[in-house]
This record gives sequence, structure tokens and C-alpha cells, in this order.
Amino acid sequence: MLLRFLVLALLASAGAQAQVLDFTDAERRAILRHGPWPAPWAPDPSNRVSGAAEAIGFGERLFFEPRLSPSGKVLCATCHVPFRGWQDGRARALGLAEAERNTQSVVNVRYNRWFGWDGAGDSLWAQSLRPILDAREMGGSQAQAATLVRSDPELSCGYARTFGAPPPADDALVLAGIGKALAAFQETIVSGRSPFDDFRDALARNDFSAMKNYPLAAQRGLRIFVGRGNCSACHFGPNFANGEFHDVGVPFFVAGGADPGRHGGIRKLQSNPFNLLGPHNDDREGASATRTKHVALEHRNFGEFKVAGLRNVAQSAPYMHNGSLATLADVVRHYSEISPDRLHADGESLLKPLRLNREESADLVAFLESLTERASTLPPRRPGTPCRP
Ligand code: HEC
Ligand code: HEC
Repeated sequence: MLLRFLVLALLASAGAQAQVLDFTDAERRAILRHGPWPAPWAPDPSNRVSGAAEAIGFGERLFFEPRLSPSGKVLCATCHVPFRGWQDGRARALGLAEAERNTQSVVNVRYNRWFGWDGAGDSLWAQSLRPILDAREMGGSQAQAATLVRSDPELSCGYARTFGAPPPADDALVLAGIGKALAAFQETIVSGRSPFDDFRDALARNDFSAMKNYPLAAQRGLRIFVGRGNCSACHFGPNFANGEFHDVGVPFFVAGGADPGRHGGIRKLQSNPFNLLGPHNDDREGASATRTKHVALEHRNFGEFKVAGLRNVAQSAPYMHNGSLATLADVVRHYSEISPDRLHADGESLLKPLRLNREESADLVAFLESLTERASTLPPRRPGTPCRP
């Protein structure tokens, strides 16, 4: 009896391991484009303290500072919870009140081109100011945040170390500095390597025995992802996001009407004094401002949202800009049954109902789960010397 069980178990594990799908050359090329990981990255030229150790330490301090909200009750980490994949697990964010959108994770945020579901931010530092000023999130103000940093000895010391001078009297300058330090910290939050990355690199080296470690279900899901699912068209490159905005048929009605998505985001971007065309960009003559200058409002932007990066996606349920889909299986069902009538813009040329059967749907979920890092993204704690003036 026991012997029979052992033999069966051995056979099953051998069967489960010993296979690699016969990927075509086109599939191989498509798979290789999703790496290597971590992808190369250069400091942000619009932020002169990007990548600087002092700024990272000060930014981490601010990320966990409840007094940036006058209530003393809401901090960045209230919604971007480090041990919950840097988001909150809620459908819609809850700060001082409930917001309309789902909290985005800040993992791998340094690879973004635009920020927010609607792209209302053109830099990580400007995006980091939005929740401080939003009445439903932290409910603060420029004057309140600047006064806090000027008057608190530890924070003003952190500011001085980061920028080489104590916080100035100009509130807007201090606020921009807060954003830049917060950005420097968030740039360090990068996901670790996943089972998919090991498979992708083994494929690149033609290392058949290492490729076998990647479960067959994930391989079949990957084939759908780069092939008939056309998922890679939008979830492109090492971070599985093409940096653009699309309508994938998620309803955009909210309590008070409709969420205009990218259309509203462009308006907010253009009127934001902290955008890259404004005085706080440390690279105003440089290329970083060009994209913002050329952004143009088009009717098709209505109801478009940012393509989400998919690394660690299994850790960030619920899904979509409004948190309306509870699980990855629900997301796969959404794409499988998508109704082309609901799509506008260019969604219809990239998306058609996939009509996946049960096994194929499970395979696609297995692939998405294989994008989860093996070790946590908690940035290493820097002992650092406490900042005392
Ligand atoms: C009340 C919950 C809440 C708080 C507090 C909060 N956020 Fe967020 N965060 C969100 C939501 C919701 C979004 C999506 C916003 C949108 O689309 O308009 C978001 C988006 C972001 C993004 C953009 C991510 C991307 O992929 O584009 C960054 C960066 C960010 N937050 C940083 C911060 C920082 C820094 C703080 C603290 C100063 C903070 N957040 C505080 C809920 C919150
Ligand atoms: C036309 C571009 C496009 C294609 C093709 C596409 N996606 Fe998406 N995907 C998006 C956009 C845009 C969002 C965010 C939509 C929203 O919130 O309204 C998204 C969101 C997601 C999310 C949720 C991420 C999160 O953090 O909330 C998952 C998972 C996902 N897509 C998987 C897939 C899979 C699997 C396929 C292929 C079957 C696919 N996508 C095809 C553009 C696309």
C-alpha cells in the first residue's frame, strides 16, 4: 500500500517536472522581451536628489509620518502598506474619507512614465504630493506640510541633510522637496526575481534542465499571454506595462457620475503647478519636460486608464482602477468574456473576447501568479544616524 503510494508520487512528480513546451521562435522572442529583471534604471533627472542616500532616508521617514495629515491619523503607509504588497487590499482607498479609486501599489513605481490611474502626475515626486493635498486622503495643505518640516527639529534636519540647506521660507519649495525625498525612497521599492524570471533567463541560455522547474500550467498560461491573448501588446516589457492608457471595458461610472480617466488626468496635469513645465523641475531645459509639453487632450482619452504593471500582481487584489474585480480569476474572466460593444478608443483593435475554457483560464492565472517575487520587496532598513540638529 505504502509502496504503491510512493511509486505513484514519484511518477506524478516526474511527470509534472519533466516538460517544457515547444515554444516557437516568435513566442521565444516575445517571452524574452519581458526581461531581464531587474530592468536597468537611471536616476530621475527632474529630481536632483533621486538616488541620493540622504534623500532615501528622509523620504522613508516622511512615508511613515502621520503629521503630514493635519488629522495626525493618515500616512502614506496607511494605504501603501509595506507587508500588503504596498497597497491596502481594499476596493477603494480609505483615508479621511473613501476615495473613488483603488490604491495602486508603489512597487516598481520608478519604471513609470506617468503616475496615477489617469496619468495626472508626470513625475514620481509630483505624484507623491497629491495625497497630502487631497481632502479625502490626508487632507493637508502646502502651508501645513511646510510648517511641519520647518518647525520639527528632526524633519528640518533631514531636509537640510538632503538638500544641503535648511527648509526655506517658501512653502512651495519645501513641499516640492518633500515630494522629491518621498520619490527617492519609493524608487528603492523594486520587486525581487520571480519564477517567471528564472524561466525567461533559462530560455535565453537554452538551459533546458532549468526551464523544467517552471510549472507546465504557467508555461501554457504564458503562451496565451504572449500569443492569442495579446496581453503583451499592452502589458509590455520587463515591467509588463507599456506606459500608456487604454480602455479595457471596466465600467467607469462612480457615485457622482463618471470617472473620466485619462481625459481628466490630462486636465489635472496641465493645471498642476508642480508639473514638469513648472519651476520645481530640476531639469526644465531637458528632455523630461518634452512629453508633458506635447500631451494633448483627445476625446478617446475619456474612460482610458493606465496599463497596470503585473509584477507581484497576485499580492494586490482587488483589481482595476475601481477595485471592481476581486481575484485574478475574475480578471481573466473579464478578458475572456469582454464585450466589444463596451470598448471605445483603440481597445477594440487589441481586445476581443478570448472565450477561454476552464483549464486555459486556470493556466493564465498560474502564469500571472508566477510573476510573484520569491523574496519580499521590503527595502533594507538603513541603520543611519538619527537626524538631530
Ligand atoms: C487614502 C489612501 C492613500 C494615501 C494616504 C496615499 N495614497 Fe498613494 N495612492 C492612492 C490611490 C487611490 C492612488 C491612485 C490615485 C489615482 O489614480 O488618482 C495612489 C497612487 C499613488 C502613486 C502612483 C502609483 C502609480 O503606479 O502611478 C504614488 C507614487 C503614490 N500613490 C504615493 C503616495 C505617497 C508618497 C503617499 C504619502 C504622501 C501616498 N501615496 C498616500 C491612495 C493613497
Ligand atoms: C488594450 C490594452 C490591454 C490589453 C490587450 C490587456 N490589458 Fe490588462 N490592463 C490594461 C489596462 C488599461 C488596465 C487597467 C484598467 C482599468 O483599471 O480600468 C489593465 C489591468 C489588468 C490587470 C489588473 C492589474 C491591477 O493591478 O489592477 C490584470 C491582472 C491584467 N490587466 C491582465 C491582463 C491579461 C491577462 C491580458 C490578456 C488576456 C490583458 N491584461 C490584456 C490594458 C490591457
